[in-house]
Amino acid sequence: MKYRTIGADPATRREVSVLALGAMLFGSRTDEETSFAVLDRYVEAGGNFIDTSDNYAFWEDGGQGGQSEELLGRWRRSRGVGDEIVFATKLGARPLAPGTSYVDNAEGLSAKVIRESAERSRERLGVAKLDLLYTHIEDHRVPLQETVEGFAELVAEGTVGLLGVSNHAAWRVERARALAAAAGLPGYEVLQYAHSHLRPRTDVPDPLFPDGSLGHAGADLLSYLRAEPGLTLVAYSPLLKGAYTHPDRLPADFDHAGTPARLKALTEVAKETGATVNQVVLSWQAGGDLPIIPLVGTSSVAQLEENLAAMDLELTGEQRARLDSAH
Ligand SMILES: NC(=O)c1ccc[n+]([C@@H]2O[C@H](COP(=O)([O-])OP(=O)(O)OC[C@H]3O[C@@H](n4cnc5c(N)ncnc54)[C@H](OP(=O)(O)O)[C@@H]3O)[C@@H](O)[C@H]2O)c1
Repeated sequence: MKYRTIGADPATRREVSVLALGAMLFGSRTDEETSFAVLDRYVEAGGNFIDTSDNYAFWEDGGQGGQSEELLGRWRRSRGVGDEIVFATKLGARPLAPGTSYVDNAEGLSAKVIRESAERSRERLGVAKLDLLYTHIEDHRVPLQETVEGFAELVAEGTVGLLGVSNHAAWRVERARALAAAAGLPGYEVLQYAHSHLRPRTDVPDPLFPDGSLGHAGADLLSYLRAEPGLTLVAYSPLLKGAYTHPDRLPADFDHAGTPARLKALTEVAKETGATVNQVVLSWQAGGDLPIIPLVGTSSVAQLEENLAAMDLELTGEQRARLDSAH
């Protein structure tokens, strides 16, 4: 396993594996025995960067989420896990009541929510400190200043290590970081966005993002990442939720003229290297010139083995150039 540094400050930065493991469905769609087996194998292979959220996976049982953090807490205790594993969680998108959703009833990013939800996450995970805490979605009701100060207080108290942001417009990330810097406070250092080799259309509105999805790492966000050496992109849904293996799962916003060309390039490189398309996608992401960490979900140890092996796949410069330029 290879490792990458997240965070710029020597006092708070961490070394994490180049493949992160998503625990979103652990404890709900993925049963406890399978989840523990995947977690054990991931750690055995050198993985140490595990992702969850306070709202995972509320949609699976119509509740408010928390099953994933709770399962991770049980796994931590049963395996005697300590500081060597970096747990990342998120707040802001937990539904306020069972049967509702983050689309219109999210907890949001007020100072009160930040304090209380972070504490609940620490309890469920059974940790004194959250290694990395993200804002999960935007909250337009609360001034950015309040969110920035709320996060910084937890860092100052020692209950949170690094800060991250997910699904925000690039300009709001920059504004929040500028507010933090001007006040001498810690800012977001890890960006978590959907990112894969296939590109979605960016102009398809949805209930959460009426101007088109802010959840995808588009040109604005990637150019921001390139310009700010202290930032890392954690790429969620890198395998498009299994769509490379099951094309029927490809979401409608990938139905455009650029998709066949990119799929063709992926398939060619997979053939040349003897790897699977999934492995080419993960290797392309993890080994490129931008600091990107694929965050993959797996529902079996067999899938995990395939995804781990991708970290040993070296693409040539020519293969990378072909994958980069296909459109
Ligand atoms: N910040 C956010 O808003 C956000 C949103 C979504 C996800 N996330 C994070 O990102 C993580 C991963 O995202 P994701 O689960 O949406 O997408 P993903 O990693 O692209 O897809 C995971 C799914 O793909 C299939 N899969 C994985 N490896 C495979 C393999 N080698 N061969 C064939 N199929 C394979 C499995 O589905 P089947 O078992 O059904 O085949 C698995 O559940 C989550 O756990 C979560 O931590 C964050």
